[in-house]
Amino acid sequence: MIGTINLPQASSMAGNVDALYSFILIISIVSFVIIVGALVYFSYKYSRKKSNPDTTSYIHGNTALEVGMSAVLFVIVMLIFAWGWIDYKKIRSVPANALEINVIGQQWLWNLEYKNGRQLTNELIVPKDTPVKLIMGSKDVLHSFYVPAFRLKQDVVPGQFTYISFTAIELGEFPIFCAEFCGTAHSGMIGKVKVVEKADYEKWQNIWELEQRLGVSEASEKSGEQVSPVERGKELFTKQGCTACHSTGSNKLVGPGLAGLFGRETTLSDGKKVSADENYIRKSLMEPNAEVVEGFTPLMPTYKGQLSDEELNHLIAYIKSLK
Ligand code: CUA
Repeated sequence: MIGTINLPQASSMAGNVDALYSFILIISIVSFVIIVGALVYFSYKYSRKKSNPDTTSYIHGNTALEVGMSAVLFVIVMLIFAWGWIDYKKIRSVPANALEINVIGQQWLWNLEYKNGRQLTNELIVPKDTPVKLIMGSKDVLHSFYVPAFRLKQDVVPGQFTYISFTAIELGEFPIFCAEFCGTAHSGMIGKVKVVEKADYEKWQNIWELEQRLGVSEASEKSGEQVSPVERGKELFTKQGCTACHSTGSNKLVGPGLAGLFGRETTLSDGKKVSADENYIRKSLMEPNAEVVEGFTPLMPTYKGQLSDEELNHLIAYIKSLK
């Protein structure tokens, strides 16, 4: 379709949205050509010529033409309105059998939780040809859940739930963007929707559920013995959004890279030197702006009350492991 050439139509409503978009675009182009064409033509036709210094004659209005044109324009605008309304109703109506998934936006990532308790970060896996309803909330500020390939966008608002519903009709991976400026790492708040065959989806969930029951699943609460603190810390590191601002290498993002940080002497913005030990990392998480590393801005949100002591230990274990 015009204007959306490189974007797959990966949801059942994408084609409808594109059709209306193209209709409006074509009407706009045609109107532009007619208006600008007439403007140029009349400018020339009625311009005062050197050979003819007479005043241009006064032209009266044409009631029939004016009423007729208004009527035609009114019909076109109402057609666009009705078309848009019908598709909007389709997009907003959720089939009763829709697969419900919770989405929580936060600075600066997407947390997803399935009904069976399975949690994913920045990756939404859905079955093809199945209606899905995302029930969305925000932990902190306004975000907007945007999947261009589905032609869907919805604000995610703190203090209330919003939703979107879609049926994916194409296999593959499609990016999720945050379409509402939400702070420093807004542009890094990127996820993906992975559309898989229905059978593969069921298998993927069934295996996980079985593993949960048997207590052999990786990184599950029930099988603490099988997962090392480093692995759990690594998971937390992604889940808590650390990755938006901190690389696990040495390159600077919004915050310092964390490789080799542990045990190193660090210079703070007030010139003070501190050794990056357990207490330093704890303080960095709970009171992030108390000790800011030289050359960085105090932007980190606090994790006070959001991490259990156990989780804090896991995160520290993981940071320690980054060489
Ligand atoms: Cu979240 Cu922009």
